[in-house]
Amino acid sequence: MTELTLTTKNVARIQADAVVVAVGRRGEDAVLVPGADLPSATVKTLTSLLPALGVSGKADEVLRVAAGKELAADVVVLTGVGPVGEDGPDLEALRRAAGAAVRSLAGTADVALALPAATAEQVGAVAEGALLGAYSFDRYRTTRTAPVARLELVSDVARTKEAKAAHARAVVVADAVSGVRDLVNTSPADLYPESFAEEATAGAKGTKVKVTVLDEKELAAGGFGGLIGVGMGSARPPRLVKVTYSPARAKAHVGLVGKGITFDSGGLSIKPAKGMETMKMDMAGAATVLHTVLAAAALELPVRVTGWLALAENMPSGTAQRPSDVITIRGGKTVEVLNTDAEGRLVMADALVAAGEESPDLLIDIATLTGAQMVALGSQVGAVMGTDDVREQVVAAAGDAGEQFWPMPLPAELADSMKSQVADIANMGDRFGGMLVAGLFLKEFVGDTPWAHLDIAGPAYNEGSPRGYTPEGGTGMGVRTLLTVLEQAAPR
Ligand code: BES
Ligand code: MN
Ligand code: ZN
Repeated sequence: MTELTLTTKNVARIQADAVVVAVGRRGEDAVLVPGADLPSATVKTLTSLLPALGVSGKADEVLRVAAGKELAADVVVLTGVGPVGEDGPDLEALRRAAGAAVRSLAGTADVALALPAATAEQVGAVAEGALLGAYSFDRYRTTRTAPVARLELVSDVARTKEAKAAHARAVVVADAVSGVRDLVNTSPADLYPESFAEEATAGAKGTKVKVTVLDEKELAAGGFGGLIGVGMGSARPPRLVKVTYSPARAKAHVGLVGKGITFDSGGLSIKPAKGMETMKMDMAGAATVLHTVLAAAALELPVRVTGWLALAENMPSGTAQRPSDVITIRGGKTVEVLNTDAEGRLVMADALVAAGEESPDLLIDIATLTGAQMVALGSQVGAVMGTDDVREQVVAAAGDAGEQFWPMPLPAELADSMKSQVADIANMGDRFGGMLVAGLFLKEFVGDTPWAHLDIAGPAYNEGSPRGYTPEGGTGMGVRTLLTVLEQAAPR
């Protein structure tokens, strides 16, 4: 893991391999946006070089140049922050610029960050972006490039209580996001319901988080027909994992539910080969819930959090559930399974009912639920549906956290399309508005609890090139929003 320290040192004297400096855009011009006090000669030389270097200052533009004799470091890394206003770059632009620079420096030992860091908020953003950009997943590689070993973040306010707290929070956030990325990137041969549950238990060891696991026998006895039905086709049985953080004098109780399909083949309604390639990521919601609860505990937030991981593997076999099977969800509602590839909503229904039994003040679920989410919002923006006030709470928290969640409706008319000939409801409805249909299905299992449903099918997994602090593969998108919701639900 990359180590990050705050310092008030003179950046010119830091013996680093590289010093990272921001370049932004003001109007048509690229401008240097130095954070720490770079020697004026360095600022002058770099500024005069920008046009000749072809640096425009736009996001994700990273360039290495020789440092010059005024600096103890070997190279300067110019990283784009995009448009800068009066108050400097926006916090998310800063995270991304720090992330892109640190990502490009993989294989380097010592890096100094001379990015805008005049306030504790900026210190937190730079630290978060840098640590997120330092992520690498090399569990299955025999040759590897180590991420940057040590980062020194230069800031005048480094010694203040606020900056230290922002730094500590950034480390917790980066650990949580990395934890989600690792789980998502892990081969589904290694990550299946039982091993996922063991990971949760191991992760909570030595923390204030308690983990309890229901195995397939307990699930059957408890009436969890969704998890049992979906898990039936796999040789590796389902699990429901409950992850609890319950501090003394908690100010609120939040329930979190995550979809944990460790591999989604579609079941007997099998997916085409292309559609299956990324389906190890179908447990991103459960990973997000696990690491959000662990992060809440690490930050000692004054809020009780109960996380539920709905874990199953969706496989076709002689024991798999069939299209037209009728199953009974926890609590008694029956579902006709018309398409075994609409499995997420079945395991989520069980877990939502279980979560609701504890009457939390707030219930939020997160799932890679529908391909329709990607059609609607693309691969970087998540969707949020649910009770008006909780939905807006999530949108606002996402904005503060630097993630994008967009509000979507749950039009009651669409629910009619899930009418079943034989059961209370079918697991399929109109193809158009498929994301909303899935949301309406979940709503049937929520009851009166204030609730939001987050569909992260697109943003959970990066099939494109790395960008900003986001690597290929698992992104960890959602952790920062959920953690911010928890912080805002129970202010200190
Ligand atoms: N896990 C998928 C949704 C998904 C698709 C996530 C692509 C990420 C990328 C989900 O279980 C699924 O298969 N949904 C079906 C539902 C349909 C059968 C009603 C879908 O979206 O096609
Ligand atoms: Mn599916
Ligand atoms: Zn799925």
